This record gives sequence, C-alpha cells and structure tokens, in this order.
Amino acid sequence: MLKYFFLLFALLVVLVVSMAGFRGQKSSRSPIEIFPDMDQQPKVKAQAASSFFSDGRSNRKPVDGTVPIGYAIPLHKPANDSVGEASGPYKQIYFSSGPVYFDTGKIDGQWGTGMPFEITPELMERGRERFTINCAVCHGATGAGNGIAGKFGLVAIANLHQERLRKLADGEIFNTITQGKNTMMGYGDRIQVQDRWAIIAYIRALQKSQGGATLQEVPEGERAALEAQK
Ligand code: HEC
Repeated sequence: MLKYFFLLFALLVVLVVSMAGFRGQKSSRSPIEIFPDMDQQPKVKAQAASSFFSDGRSNRKPVDGTVPIGYAIPLHKPANDSVGEASGPYKQIYFSSGPVYFDTGKIDGQWGTGMPFEITPELMERGRERFTINCAVCHGATGAGNGIAGKFGLVAIANLHQERLRKLADGEIFNTITQGKNTMMGYGDRIQVQDRWAIIAYIRALQKSQGGATLQEVPEGERAALEAQK
C-alpha cells in the first residue's frame, strides 16, 4: 500500500514541477516571499513618473535657497535674502571645478602661485578660523605638525614650516587640500574653494611668523611693540 502512495506522490511532484516550475519564463510579477526581508520598498526611482505629486514627476525641484555643491554658502545672509549679494570676506558666489586657477591651482598645466583674489584682514581671519577647524587637529595650531591626532597614532604629519613647504606653490597646497596627499585625506568636498585659498593665505602667515619675516613687513604701528619684546 505504502509503495503505491510513494509512487503516486512522486508522480504528483513531477506533475506539479512540470506545470508550475522550471518553465524558463520570465515574469514581472514579484515572487511569493515567505520572508520578504524588505525587498519591496515604496521608493521613488530617479526620473520615474509618480502619481503622488500633482505634476506627475517623482523628481522634485530644489527648494528655494538651496546651495549647490561647490557653491559658497552665503556667509552672512543679506537683508534682501539674495544669494548673489553675500557679504563678509567673499563678495561673490563662486562656482568650483572649472578649468581656472581659482578652481584647480594650475596655470597652463603648472602649479601656479599667488592668491586668486585680494587678501583682506577678514579673509585672513576666515583662513585662521577654517585652519583651526579643519587642519589644526593634525597640523597643530601653528602648523608645526604637532596636532592632537599625532597623540592618537597618526604618524608623519607634515610640519608646514619645513623649507620644502615654504617654497611649495600655492596651487599645489590648494591641490593637497582639495585631493589630499598620501595619508592625508582630501577636504575638497567639505571646504569651499575660496576657504581653501583663505587657509593657504593663513598658512603663509603662519610660515612667516616662524621665521623669514622682516620688521618692514609688520604694520608700522605694531613694530615698536615687537622691538620691545626683543
Ligand atoms: C587627519 C590629519 C590631517 C588633517 C586634518 C590635515 N592634514 Fe595635512 N597632512 C596630514 C599628513 C599625515 C600629511 C603628510 C602626508 C604625506 O605623507 O605626504 C599632510 C600633509 C600636508 C601638506 C604637505 C603636502 C606636501 O606637498 O607634502 C600640506 C600643505 C597640508 N597637509 C595641508 C593641510 C591643510 C591646509 C589642512 C586643512 C585643510 C590639512 N592639511 C589637514 C594630515 C592631515
């Protein structure tokens, strides 16, 4: 009796498999899932239509006041709320990743040197602030390479006062900030273009402060105080 049952059962399995499975067909219907594991999620696919919004599009326009990646965030919101009129160290909103010196640090394919815009006291202050926030953890407040990260095991942090870096073109430093170098990661995605230049201006001031500056370079009013310190 049991023999016939097994035979019938085997036939039934063959029948079901031959009718329901292994048919080599594709289906757009989702399979039956006992444990769905969040395979199916309500989401919007890029560029797809959507019945959720009245205009039928799934992609939404950026809200007013959105700052695109690479543009400067207006530092001080002007009274009229117009993005183009930010005040503070930078009067203009710059767009990054162009082929120009400002964006690349290169002039005709070579590292250029010099500031792509005027250095003002505000810009220096901005550079000091940004350096302290972004760089001092490793390079130290004076740039001597003795920041706190060194105490937690980061080795070979560059001393920014070494002769080679004093002589390095501004454009190459710009590139190091943007792309990183060896164990230093790039900061291009988190420091605005103009802030990178402000940091470079501040690094140059730090380098001067640690040697090579002449009394003539100090503003006249402050020379006497320096002489007294000697
Ligand atoms: C997480 C630690 C860390 C931070 C933060 C950091 N650096 Fe560095 N930096 C390094 C290390 C490590 C090196 C040495 C890399 C190497 O081996 O050449 C370096 C090298 C440099 C150099 C020398 C590049 C060369 O040509 O040899 C410059 C210039 C520099 N950093 C500038 C900066 C500036 C500006 C900032 C802030 C925007 C900054 N770094 C933030 C770790 C850091």
